Amino acid sequence: MARTPRAAVKRPKAFVATNAPLALAPQRATRPVAPVSRRESKPMRLDEGQGFGTEEREESERPPSRPIRVAASGDLHARLDRPNRLQRIFREVNDQADILLLAGDLTDHGDPDEAEQLAEEMSAVRVPIVAVLGNHDYEMGKADEVVRILSRGGIRILDGGFFIFEKRLAIAGTKGFAGGFGRATLEPWGEEPIKRFVFEAVNESLKLESALARIKDYPKRIALMHYAPVHGTVEGENPELIPFLGCSRLAEPIDNFGADFAVHGHAHKGRTQANTPGGIPVYNVAMKLLNHATGRRFVVVGV
Ligand SMILES: [Fe+2]
Ligand SMILES: [Fe+2]
Repeated sequence: MARTPRAAVKRPKAFVATNAPLALAPQRATRPVAPVSRRESKPMRLDEGQGFGTEEREESERPPSRPIRVAASGDLHARLDRPNRLQRIFREVNDQADILLLAGDLTDHGDPDEAEQLAEEMSAVRVPIVAVLGNHDYEMGKADEVVRILSRGGIRILDGGFFIFEKRLAIAGTKGFAGGFGRATLEPWGEEPIKRFVFEAVNESLKLESALARIKDYPKRIALMHYAPVHGTVEGENPELIPFLGCSRLAEPIDNFGADFAVHGHAHKGRTQANTPGGIPVYNVAMKLLNHATGRRFVVVGV
């Protein structure tokens, strides 16, 4: 089903946060006030081998003592036969968070029409949206078109890039890849196809490392991925699937450069929270899992 391209969605840049305590558990509604920020945007250089991405900055007069409320969800799997589902869910984000992170599988088949529908539904969200793609967004081989449509809708898609919010929160994002965990992590040994598979995991880890290195001086940092960086948040899935749900190579740059927490999706039946080997919290925000575990479709974490 073809759709007429929409004009870019105008989003207010931020809301002043309340003093409500923040936790992984979803929060009750808080009081939105007038937007107070100004955004500067410059396209990221694509010759840096980091694919699409942005370096954008949201500026605000929010007192630094106020926590930033970060909402996160993933695996929306937007489908043409399920319209008007996400608009209802994410409208709540406006009152409960200052920024929304989406951890990939934004569409179900990487269909540009699904992306059009998603962009339209997400136009109900008035806080900045930062996302990475997931494996489903590549299925039709039209990921570039999906990115263009979502970007036109005001959603910032990261692929080895980063996003700065209010000068003090930096989000580094990349899709990530599979390969397994710990001592069972696949090594580049033997057949060429195995080496190419591992190279993809290494490349995604390097993209995350590069982005984290560039934001290392910001006081608050988040790593956003689709694939899991640790085994702990995929436990509960079919054991035979686990090597395809993420890779420990993604946890290495997170521990090396540090972050307040990491967010991923992809494992619809995993666990909501675990830690990297270095002790950094990792949240699995796959929507289906969140709904099962908390009855809500996104979490809010204060940083
Ligand atoms: Fe998914
Ligand atoms: Fe996925």
